[in-house]
Amino acid sequence: MSGEALLGDAPYGIDPGVLKRSAAEVIELNHRGVQVAIVIGAGNLFRGAGLAAAGMDPVTADHIGMLGTVINALALQDAIERQGAFARVMSAIRINEICEDYIRRRAVRHLEKGRVVIFAAGTGNPFFTTDSAASLRAAEIDADLMIKATKVDGVYSADPVRDPEAVRHSRLTYDEVFAKKLGVMDATAVVLCRDHDMPLRVINMNKEGALLRTVMGEDEGTLIEKG
Ligand code: GTP
Repeated sequence: MSGEALLGDAPYGIDPGVLKRSAAEVIELNHRGVQVAIVIGAGNLFRGAGLAAAGMDPVTADHIGMLGTVINALALQDAIERQGAFARVMSAIRINEICEDYIRRRAVRHLEKGRVVIFAAGTGNPFFTTDSAASLRAAEIDADLMIKATKVDGVYSADPVRDPEAVRHSRLTYDEVFAKKLGVMDATAVVLCRDHDMPLRVINMNKEGALLRTVMGEDEGTLIEKG
């Protein structure tokens, strides 16, 4: 789930309605016994690339972005727990007055105990995107599927907003993503999925029920896997 997913129609910040709905969709999976771990972004609060472009030291900009993901993670944890499920925020940077440190074996244990795990602060390093953090954590916890929740219905042959001829790909291989230069995620994130044989589905988080349909194996969004 990305930071933008919490933005809704608000110009910035956290939209409480979107937060509540996102939490409800996650809880629906949790109630069905699906182990859900979420890597959250901060695009609704800060854009590291934008700050860097405005002259800020890029490492500092990325650190600010990481702190933004902690804010979003705490908001999502709160929304999930207010709706009666259990969640644990685990941060890649030590900030343990407010959340747990990321420890892989502990994360897996939380999942086994039915808690939703929210990974904050990306990989804990500058120059790595939230998407790369998601691929890394998915590989580390040996996830069955990685889901990239975005604002579009999947991966298109061209920008569907600008090109009426654009068609949605229902299935792609990792190598096709590179060959066709499809801007799904940054290359590091896609390579991590490819090298760990991690299937990836790109779905629209604003489409009601898309998350559940994806987990039930339906043809939702775009599936990216090995050829
Ligand atoms: P189990 O031991 O598996 O039952 O897990 P648990 O998370 O319920 O127990 P634990 O005693 O580890 O944690 C109790 C509460 O403290 C939970 O809400 C944790 O999220 C929280 N907690 C654990 N470690 C930390 C930490 O380093 N920092 C902060 N802020 N909270 C923590």
